[in-house]
Amino acid sequence: MTRDGFRAEEIDTSRPHPARIYDYLLGGKDNYEVDRQAAERLASVAPEARIGVQANRAFMRRAVRHVVGSGVRQILDIGTGLPTSPNVHEIARETAPDVRVAYVDNDPIVKTHADALLGDSSATSIVLADLRDPRAVLDHPDVRRVIDFDEPVALLLVAILHFLSEADEPERVVATLRDALPAGSFLVLSHATGDFADRSGAQAVYNDATATMSLRNRAEVERFFDGFDLVEPGLAQVPFWRPDAPPPPRSAEIGFYGGVARKNG
Ligand SMILES: C[S@@+](CC[C@H](N)C(=O)[O-])C[C@H]1O[C@@H](n2cnc3c(N)ncnc32)[C@H](O)[C@@H]1O
Repeated sequence: MTRDGFRAEEIDTSRPHPARIYDYLLGGKDNYEVDRQAAERLASVAPEARIGVQANRAFMRRAVRHVVGSGVRQILDIGTGLPTSPNVHEIARETAPDVRVAYVDNDPIVKTHADALLGDSSATSIVLADLRDPRAVLDHPDVRRVIDFDEPVALLLVAILHFLSEADEPERVVATLRDALPAGSFLVLSHATGDFADRSGAQAVYNDATATMSLRNRAEVERFFDGFDLVEPGLAQVPFWRPDAPPPPRSAEIGFYGGVARKNG
């Protein structure tokens, strides 16, 4: 039994989970046959998928260094995924050892693995909650224990918003989170898109998964930054957001936008 009352045998292994598909594409071991089959289907219709998820992860690392380098000491990472080294708190603490991180995911398997990795700490928490209920995230005692909403926060929504459909009102969700953040806070966001190659086949792989995928174009992704000012270079394909290494092969096809923005007063 986990701390949240989930039994290991209740973890759904009959349908692919986004967190476990992503883990498999990243070369991780925390996945089941059903996830591996979905990930292989994804890679067959989107041949750059493995490179794309690595590039998304590399974007997240550069973005975290940027926001911590800008002085932020608290990170709210929603849709954190299965622990993947280096994790957000490890990256952040290379720059500033006092950074506090609240991790949030709606997948019990993510929480179980993260609990085992993080243990009890006053500087990190792992919370089982759903982005579609942003008030529940903001009010969760284990978020409040780590995050002080009177001080700037970096909100990470990295490769999660495409798991919200229009019916989930993703713009309202992001606006609710934005309104809880003080000036000087940051939004770090990446999002799947079909702007650079036809990704309808990749999207279809998620039809059987526990969350479906909504690809969005540049204008739709940019709308999530309402109320924030994008830092240079604005919204970019993830390998081209402040690169610190030559772009990986097939970068021009990578279907993830990434951007970092600051909330001004
Ligand atoms: C593709 S992974 C991204 C992991 C990490 N942010 C990264 O980019 O490396 C997406 C994560 O979002 C989580 N997720 C999907 N929908 C969610 C929701 N409505 N609320 C909370 N987490 C969600 C999944 O369980 C998964 O762990």
